[in-house]
Amino acid sequence: MNIQKYVPLAPLTTLGVGGSARFFVEVKTEKDIEEAVSYARAHGLAIYPIGAGSNILVPDEGVDGLVMKIAMHDIELHDAADETFLIAGAGARWEDVVNLAVEHGLYGIENLAGIPGTVGGAAVQNIGAYGAEFGSVFEYADVFNILTGVFERIAHTQASFAYRTSFFKEHRELVVVRVTLRLVKNAAPNISYSDLKRAQLEGIPLATPMQIAEAVRSIRAQKFPKNAEGGTAGSFFKNPIITHELADDIAKLFPDVPMFPQKEGMIKIPLAWLLDHVLALKGFSNGNVRLYEKHPLIIIARSGSRAIEVDTLAHEVAQRVFATTTICIEREVETFSGR
Ligand code: EPU
Repeated sequence: MNIQKYVPLAPLTTLGVGGSARFFVEVKTEKDIEEAVSYARAHGLAIYPIGAGSNILVPDEGVDGLVMKIAMHDIELHDAADETFLIAGAGARWEDVVNLAVEHGLYGIENLAGIPGTVGGAAVQNIGAYGAEFGSVFEYADVFNILTGVFERIAHTQASFAYRTSFFKEHRELVVVRVTLRLVKNAAPNISYSDLKRAQLEGIPLATPMQIAEAVRSIRAQKFPKNAEGGTAGSFFKNPIITHELADDIAKLFPDVPMFPQKEGMIKIPLAWLLDHVLALKGFSNGNVRLYEKHPLIIIARSGSRAIEVDTLAHEVAQRVFATTTICIEREVETFSGR
């Protein structure tokens, strides 16, 4: 185990901003995790697990603790009768997992193609896109409990997946080590999401998991910035889920607002729509950072940006949304607490 000091974190995140980790370690095995956690305990350090750094904002002052890069990359398939279990280390790239699944004609995660990040991040965040969610294929996860120093298994029933959250997000003492997904050999393609319906009308083939994954990647390519434009962390905010009453009030003011009914009478509103059609904030900027012109839920940080510029822009956007709609928006991207 090689504990390093003052490691710059910006290159380890997709936003590409922020300071250094006071301590940093890459963990490749269960034993490495145990040793890293013992080290952190012995030195009184907070632990910050990271995967591909695709959903974090590192503060400019850096992180006073031990940043633990999860680097278990193994992926295996275990065949059963009608289903196949895919077992992946938390540090495996999500795209590698999707590719392996669709190459074997397995259904379940093809709509989640093209999402940056790792398997561990996918579980914590319950990633979702194009009508699919990670939680729906999750079987169980093996985790390491930092507080007790013991490995545990968290089953689907315990995992509490909801929109961009999970038991793992609520219980930061659990480090996801390995995840088992249940994929199926036969299923009806899930092409209910509007962008996929449109692709179908255009005659794009959507009959196999591989074809769906390719279609999703090409839709994403039109919406998500290429690297050259700067760093991003995908959607910076969550779509707000609001009461029926508030949604009705908003619809009186903005009759075209799209609404997606959720559980218990709640309504999900696409924030990108509000930012675009109500607040006209596409391209809205603060110094080096801006809301992407093609999709204003995404913040783009040009090379050399500071975390404070991202933070200030995000605050300003949240204030404007509140002033116009009384909706309190939440960030999807997590900020590592500073020194
Ligand atoms: N819209 C606009 N203007 C725009 C962009 C979008 O009016 O400039 C409207 C669209 O017409 C659509 C609505 O906003 O009615 C929603 O847009 P989109 O389908 O692109 O999805 P989203 O709600 O903005 C979510 C996820 C994405 C995921 C897409 C596709 C969240 C926070 N984001 O975005 O996930 O890829 O759906 O399923 O739920 C991520 O989490 O990082 C992420 C990229």
